[in-house]
Amino acid sequence: MADPGDVRSRPIGIFDSGLGGLTVLKAIAALLPKEHIVYFGDSGRAPYGSKSPETIIKFSCQNVRFLREQAVKMIVIACNTASSRAYEAVRDSAGVPVVEVVRPGAAAACRLTRSGRIGVIGTRGTIESNVYIRAIQCSDAAVTVVQRACPLFVSLAEEGWWDGEITRSIAAVYLRPLLEQQIDTLVLGCTHYPLLSGVIAEVCGPAVTLVQAGQSVAAVVRQTLAGAGLLRTEPGAGHHTYYTSDSVDQFQILGSSFLAETVSDVHRIDIERY
Ligand code: DGL
Repeated sequence: MADPGDVRSRPIGIFDSGLGGLTVLKAIAALLPKEHIVYFGDSGRAPYGSKSPETIIKFSCQNVRFLREQAVKMIVIACNTASSRAYEAVRDSAGVPVVEVVRPGAAAACRLTRSGRIGVIGTRGTIESNVYIRAIQCSDAAVTVVQRACPLFVSLAEEGWWDGEITRSIAAVYLRPLLEQQIDTLVLGCTHYPLLSGVIAEVCGPAVTLVQAGQSVAAVVRQTLAGAGLLRTEPGAGHHTYYTSDSVDQFQILGSSFLAETVSDVHRIDIERY
């Protein structure tokens, strides 16, 4: 058995279909600055949101096998689509604690709503799974949930089109039916969407509170590591290493822009080997 001191110094493994999971990494790094992190963004096979549950399970298990090879002490599924389609498969095969992103976001929305009318946006896969309806109504059965898939948002986020007229127009079309239902809280049920949060907030207006799960997920990560005695205790800031299944340059440019720091340790991998 591995020495617990040794396990504590291992990295947290995070995966997403691309850049979106960086929104979760940012929150985890802010709360747990001493933790080492290994991030894998599967941009070469994105989007996940339009793929079948079987494909998402296969991709997620490959991502986990890659992260396990990096000797991670925990896995964070920083992708709502993978959380809704593959959480059980990942949890049962990972061999380390696994944190997903749906339940923390759903719980935050239930705490924040005043009117009991919550909107949820996500990928087709996430919306069709109805995972948010189950998670929200499990917390509060009296809440009404209105949901909509916004598939183009992922491409806009991966392209770096985080602002501007085209993104604003697409957001207005996607969000109109939810706003007509008088929601007061909107769950960004895809980790790519916080990259567009400026535009989404502008279209929704001040009466709607946006829920980004990053901070709630980070709190669950801390609680899980602390509960298992696995928080890193050595002095010094954690190191972050990034892997992508597509262009290193694109990841570096957009990742640095989003994280507001130079993302340097980026490597390309062939995820199909796993
Ligand atoms: N960021 C992911 C999610 O939260 C997946 C987006 C996609 O690849 O379609 O659902």
